[in-house]
Amino acid sequence: MTFRHRILHLSDTHLNSPAVNAPAALARILHDARHVPDLDLVVVSGDIADDGSVQACVDVREQVGRFCAERGIPHVYCTGNHDTREAFASALGSGHLAADGADIGAAMSGASGERAAVSSVNGLRVITLDSLVPGQVHGHLSPVQLSWLRDVLAEPAPAGTIVVLHHPPIAVPTSPIMDIVNLRNGADLADAVEGTDVRAILCGHFHLQLSGLLRGIPVWVTPGVVTRIDFTERPQWERAVLGAGATVVDLGGPASPLFHVLHARDPRAGEQVYLVDAASGADVSP
Ligand SMILES: [Fe+2]
Repeated sequence: MTFRHRILHLSDTHLNSPAVNAPAALARILHDARHVPDLDLVVVSGDIADDGSVQACVDVREQVGRFCAERGIPHVYCTGNHDTREAFASALGSGHLAADGADIGAAMSGASGERAAVSSVNGLRVITLDSLVPGQVHGHLSPVQLSWLRDVLAEPAPAGTIVVLHHPPIAVPTSPIMDIVNLRNGADLADAVEGTDVRAILCGHFHLQLSGLLRGIPVWVTPGVVTRIDFTERPQWERAVLGAGATVVDLGGPASPLFHVLHARDPRAGEQVYLVDAASGADVSP
């Protein structure tokens, strides 16, 4: 049997951001994605709430949930560095929600409170990991979580697996900060997924589109919803501009996994939101 799956991959909605109108950015990309046919799933790979609040998570769930309810498809969320585990769990449960809002995820049990979970969507196994390190920008996966991941992946799924986590295990080599703020123990993740049925690893955090391989497994970083990092700026500076983006991921076809990017039709796209020194975070805008 041949499986085909199409995923709309969103990330970094950052609701309640003081810098931009984040709800409007999310509404814009969801509106402009309305003609994408045959979607099976929407994924939001972290930094749902800019302020870590329950209300921001509820607001994102309502906006994305409405889009999914109209299509009869599930929506899946993972934590990011701006989120808090308590607010995430309160608003989103396991993070794996059916079209009607029911929680369909099997959450990792354990005392750590990490919000890792797994569900199945028409034969595709969807795993969310929790790379959040409270109070830090970078990501890390605990030994408990990696052990749980290995156990889940021990048996292959009918249509294979996608892994969703906020912090990418890859970085652009000339960036002075990406390999400081990304997933610190990417090699541990590589050890856990190597030789399994994982088809792709979907990430956010960088607010720009980026692809690479983790021991041969495609890693995709989707552009941010709230802002886009403009990589034409000199490497030691970080410029964020308006312009929500998203990715459509096609699994199961001859070129699988296939990724294409959508840009919201924002007349203010490209307008600078901030320009900072990447190392210090100091405002360097003229
Ligand atoms: Fe982030």
